[in-house]
Amino acid sequence: MLYSILSAFNVQTVLIGLLVVLVVYKLRQRWKYNLPPGPFCWPLIGSYEVIQAKFLHEIFVKYAKKYGPVFTVSLGPYQMVVLNDINSVTEALVKSKADFANRPLIHSVHMFTEESKDIAFANYTPTWKLHRKIAGKALRQYLAGNRLEDVLHASMKKCLPLMAKENGAFNPEKYIDLMVFNILTAVCFGESVELDNPEFIRFMKLSKEANEMIGKGFVEDMFPIMYKVWTTNKYRTVAKTMNELISIIKRKFEEHEETFNIDKIRDFTDSLILAKKEAEYEENAEMLSQLSETHLRQTVFDIFSAGIDTSRVTLGFAVRYMAGLPEIQSKVQEEIDRVVGKDRLPTVKDRENLSYTEATLHEVMRLGTAVPVGIPHSTICDTRVGGYDVPKDTMVMINHWALHHDPRYWKDEEKFDPTRYLDENGKLGMKPESWLPFSAGRRVCLGETVAKPELLLIFATIMQRFKITLPEGTNPKVELCGSGGITIPAPYKIIIKERNII
Ligand code: HEM
Repeated sequence: MLYSILSAFNVQTVLIGLLVVLVVYKLRQRWKYNLPPGPFCWPLIGSYEVIQAKFLHEIFVKYAKKYGPVFTVSLGPYQMVVLNDINSVTEALVKSKADFANRPLIHSVHMFTEESKDIAFANYTPTWKLHRKIAGKALRQYLAGNRLEDVLHASMKKCLPLMAKENGAFNPEKYIDLMVFNILTAVCFGESVELDNPEFIRFMKLSKEANEMIGKGFVEDMFPIMYKVWTTNKYRTVAKTMNELISIIKRKFEEHEETFNIDKIRDFTDSLILAKKEAEYEENAEMLSQLSETHLRQTVFDIFSAGIDTSRVTLGFAVRYMAGLPEIQSKVQEEIDRVVGKDRLPTVKDRENLSYTEATLHEVMRLGTAVPVGIPHSTICDTRVGGYDVPKDTMVMINHWALHHDPRYWKDEEKFDPTRYLDENGKLGMKPESWLPFSAGRRVCLGETVAKPELLLIFATIMQRFKITLPEGTNPKVELCGSGGITIPAPYKIIIKERNII
């Protein structure tokens, strides 16, 4: 009895103490800095509305209307600054150089990335720079030009005939998954799988479950002390899932190490192993410490999973939009028939003549922004944006969704209109100012230059082969689903009709 009273008293004292420290800290911050305005947030808990929100981008748009494009909001004890228009985003990510190039320390993500040893969640350090450089070079080698065409055509030739067998209305998700999985698995591991391959099915299932749960966040990240005391069932489930996903990559990495031949570099994984061997040969101890097996494995995992997730979501949106927009679909198909014809698959060389098709894909990426609030940034030093101060180590979110729906830049912003991207000659013009699906600056998407041709060729190949419609009675409006981290189209069905068979 005495013990429980005493312990309750201790917990209360500690909590009140913490609260007082926090309030004093916040007042000091307010006094010292001219912070961006924002909604009322409870100490320790933050904004209840943000915690409750189905989609962060939506609640952020609501706050931006009230407080302006740069506002402050708290989630748990973490204060963050959210940027909602292209001016503030360009100022932070491009004009301020590396001021905003760090990543915040989110405990769950730190654990899942084996202590932030990947690229996407690592801080802006020499190790991050080295891995970004090696991975970028390998990506350009294995996911560009003829190699891209070869793996892409092989994947499409496997998937499209399977899809063609569908009679009546069906959900195309598993075929889209297989298309992108086989491209990334060929690039990273030099392999290709079938639709019923257990590893493919398991990887996709685990990865989607993890995305869904990670996107909604963990209560442990709001109160990190919990990691030392007790973790939720949800956290333990995701930790198990992530371990299984990483062990799949680990196994493949080890197989590659065992069969590595310096005279025959087979794929992305081999080129990372080669970078390590070169550092060993040069006895470059500093470089070797940055190229640990964990770092290399995490780089492969980043490329593999970032490449699959974003591509499958974007293509899912593309197919769904086309099914509900028959006129635009016909124009895309007219262009493909004219440029590519019916006797061969679209190639990288066709890209410059597939402007309407690419513009359609740009509009898909605008309206169906796959990563609506990007990956959180963090400030390296005290800095400024939009006329406000942003202290060192502040979490900064980029609301790509807000940029893509900003009525000051997009006339009739909800309308699907590919001509927004075309010049007077019908060619892809300058990138519209507020179109930024891949972000910008030091942490710009590493896959941007490879994702654009990859997605265009997959999309063009699907459109070349099938006329896609919605089952009768389906509302053509595209509804959103997903966890907040990644948005996906709400589950849908399509009906396909062969246009021509290659
Ligand atoms: C539709 C396709 C894609 C979209 C919309 C997209 C979007 C993004 C966004 C918004 C970021 C965060 C940038 C920031 O922090 O400001 C990002 C980062 C990243 N993306 Fe992509 N991405 C796509 C495809 C890919 C592909 C195909 C790959 C690899 C094959 C890839 C690899 C990465 C990596 C490694 C990062 C982390 C970069 C860093 O932190 O330095 N992405 N992407």
